[in-house]
Amino acid sequence: MDYYIAPSLLSADFGRLAEEVSAVEKAGADLIHLDVMDGRFVPNITIGPSVVAAVKRYAKVPLDVHLMIVEPERSLEAFADAGADVITIHPEATTHLQRALARVRELGKKVGVSLNPSTPLSAIEWVLTDVDMVLLMTVNPGFGGQAFLPSMTGKIELLRSQISRAGLPVDIEADGGIKTDNVAEVVRAGANVIVSGSGIFGTKDYGKTIAEMRKNIRRAVSAPA
Ligand code: DX5
Ligand code: ZN
Repeated sequence: MDYYIAPSLLSADFGRLAEEVSAVEKAGADLIHLDVMDGRFVPNITIGPSVVAAVKRYAKVPLDVHLMIVEPERSLEAFADAGADVITIHPEATTHLQRALARVRELGKKVGVSLNPSTPLSAIEWVLTDVDMVLLMTVNPGFGGQAFLPSMTGKIELLRSQISRAGLPVDIEADGGIKTDNVAEVVRAGANVIVSGSGIFGTKDYGKTIAEMRKNIRRAVSAPA
């Protein structure tokens, strides 16, 4: 399995976004994770398509756009045009999930679906063949810097076993509260795309932090716990 590290710009210095993007790329980021929040689906408000487009102008790695907005189907073209490479939406935010996911595919983007901690895996049972990635929230969405919810480890394990049983080429992205000291637990459970905001941007040396995450990931997948 391939493992990817996706620093979340939510914890970056927004006044120096371009520099922060190149710094994490130099530090070894595989993707840049962008959190779009509308003040309705989640209490916080962050960025829209114009900031995604700005980041796209200087980013070298793919942009992983996580939409935490109601009725995401209304904004898919805008984020696709802005340069998103992966677009992830929440079933809790849309009535016609399959149609919205199919639209992302039609726009030529990688398709992601994301679940809040309390949403059961059955919410995506009938769209698993329509997606490239499932993002499991390991905190309640809305803010960076929250504590990882330990009960989510079992949810990741269960999803990984369902995906393997079905033989589907679907990535599992884990998002929220992941740092160097718990990344092993998350990948051992079956996640292979790791989002980390404060766990990377809250440290002094991004290169050292990402290298340590990779070392912990390698160890976790090569040796049993
Ligand atoms: C939370 C966002 C996350 C957030 C993670 O709603 O989806 O991507 O930036 O931040 P940390 O890693 O600090 O929990
Ligand atoms: Zn996110």
